[in-house]
Amino acid sequence: MITDLTALLQKLNAIVRADDNWGTPANYIPELARINPEQFAITVITADGTVHSAGDADTRFSVQSITKVFTLAIALGRSGDQLWHRVGREPSGSAFNSIVQLEREQGRPRNPFINAGAIVTTDEVLAGRAPRDALAEIVQFVRTAAGSDDIHINDAVAASETQHGHRNFALAHFLASFDNLKNPPEMTLGTYFHHCALEMTTTQLAHAGRFLMGAPDMPKLISTARVRRLNALMLTCGHYDGSGDFAYRVGIPGKSGVGGGILAIVPGQASIAVWSPGLNRYGNSHKGTEALATLARQMNWSIF
Ligand code: DON
Repeated sequence: MITDLTALLQKLNAIVRADDNWGTPANYIPELARINPEQFAITVITADGTVHSAGDADTRFSVQSITKVFTLAIALGRSGDQLWHRVGREPSGSAFNSIVQLEREQGRPRNPFINAGAIVTTDEVLAGRAPRDALAEIVQFVRTAAGSDDIHINDAVAASETQHGHRNFALAHFLASFDNLKNPPEMTLGTYFHHCALEMTTTQLAHAGRFLMGAPDMPKLISTARVRRLNALMLTCGHYDGSGDFAYRVGIPGKSGVGGGILAIVPGQASIAVWSPGLNRYGNSHKGTEALATLARQMNWSIF
């Protein structure tokens, strides 16, 4: 087993760049579609706080659905288990933006990580406030978790998604038709699009994930029981209809975003952020997934 993590990440970076298949960036958000796919970054922070990085680890990217982990943590903090009346905890087996299950299951999304479920958790965080107040809470939570105030929302990305977010508008209005939205759909969606447009580097994101490691000396933002539950949901639902494949190949909890980032946690041992904007057929980072599979194998990291 290679234990010089920095050397291993540099080797991984070289292997990743040698392969021509970079995948395709998300095309339904124009601001993301124009990003150069030929980029890769990885950061690993171990339990003792050591930071190891390789590649474009200082480049900011749109974290998108990875923010759903943070909004879920906040929603559970505000509402506790009441939240589960509005959203389930089962893998969906459907694409992240699918609408079909929502009608069959009377407007209760399968889990908080598919778009419909994340719109519900955002609605819970919004709780009748002005969107800017809910966003301030979300941004502050992420900054506290990351230990950095230099984390911001990219308004151009949020505007780009607002203009082209017909599916999310459909999902939000569908939720409202089942009385599963407490705020006007446009307000909940405005909050949702803006928190998805948060930008971070892999270094910042790996720092922000440390509270999910459940190790001593980590930021204690939520209870240990809740840390375990968030990790369970990341493992079972964090990669949508690719969650089983990710669990099989990588073997640790992870949450992907359509910007090409993945936050992965080795409980008690490491917080990992990887980024490469080209996506696979599930809408998860192609090279990010490959790199995590190799890293987990080389480090003998698995929850199983
Ligand atoms: O709602 C959307 O479609 C995006 N803001 C987030 C989707 C996403 O990141 C899916 N992840 N792979």
